[in-house]
Amino acid sequence: MARADSDHFDRLEQFYDALPRPWARVEEIGSLVLFVREGEGWPYYARPRRGAPTPSAADLTACRARQRELGLPETFEWVHETTPDLLAVARSAGLDVLLAPLLGLDPQALVPDLPVPGAAIRVLDPADPGLHADLAASRAVARLGFAAPAHRSPVEMTEKSLVVSGAGPSERDAAADLVLSDEAVGGLRAMLAGGDYETAVAESPEEGILATGTSQRAGDVAEIAGVATLPSARGRGYASQLTATLARNLISRGVELIFLSAGDDDVARLYTKVGFRRVGTACIAEPAAVPL
Ligand SMILES: CC(C)(COP(=O)(O)OP(=O)(O)OC[C@H]1O[C@@H](n2cnc3c(N)ncnc32)[C@H](O)[C@@H]1OP(=O)(O)O)[C@@H](O)C(=O)NCCC(=O)NCCS
Repeated sequence: MARADSDHFDRLEQFYDALPRPWARVEEIGSLVLFVREGEGWPYYARPRRGAPTPSAADLTACRARQRELGLPETFEWVHETTPDLLAVARSAGLDVLLAPLLGLDPQALVPDLPVPGAAIRVLDPADPGLHADLAASRAVARLGFAAPAHRSPVEMTEKSLVVSGAGPSERDAAADLVLSDEAVGGLRAMLAGGDYETAVAESPEEGILATGTSQRAGDVAEIAGVATLPSARGRGYASQLTATLARNLISRGVELIFLSAGDDDVARLYTKVGFRRVGTACIAEPAAVPL
């Protein structure tokens, strides 16, 4: 994705619209589409309906009511360059909007696979009898990782992330058995076996799974998401190498357009070193926190 022309943004829209469909029910609410996951698993987003006018504040309000009714988080995602007017509408409707750098891979710039210190990169195998334990560990790493954002001094962290700021393998193991039911593992196994999803981990022989990341594909477009490293294992190149491995595997399966959204500019810099380039802005909206 060297150039972010309108064709690329069209393909991204198609991707975001197509990805959840095999796993979700679709509800159209005004100019929005709400994807409701069937079965257990992380909930999907609502987003602008393809080809429809910019969603209105009334559309957002109606969708939020429906999300609440279904017990879903009131989240909305869209690409700013494709639906530029929605930012102001969302803010006026009382949503907080995270502007996340959207990056696309320049395949020529993809870094080579390099060994990472103290760990090896492994792609999870849906047929592996150890899959449940691997997925549980991977989910725990992601939960602890996302609770402790990168590049923040402890003073800037929330109380919650302070608690886990040094989290390592023992916190991962304490969390791992809580998070995944057999039904959820069955669903994830089916997604991995279908070939459009791939989860890779950085694993140490002594300490187990320390970092994780997943690619998700629809046709010839794919996104890399859920990249996280345990706070105790950061700065060793695990996230960079996981991202590079997932990207290379996608290219070898014929994927032409690989993108991801980074939480902030510091995280985006890491991906730039792997071979990604900023192409736009992904908007992620949720209800503004009510001041105490
Ligand atoms: C963002 C995150 C995944 C990075 O994980 P990580 O494994 O520490 O990442 P890396 O080690 O590959 O890269 C971190 C830094 O170390 C540098 N680095 C890479 N390899 C290295 C090595 N072998 N030795 C030392 N430093 C290295 C990288 O260049 C990068 O530098 P930068 O901070 O100047 O950009 C991690 O901080 C995290 O889990 N954050 C919370 C979740 C999140 O934001 N995920 C991203 C969602 S898009």
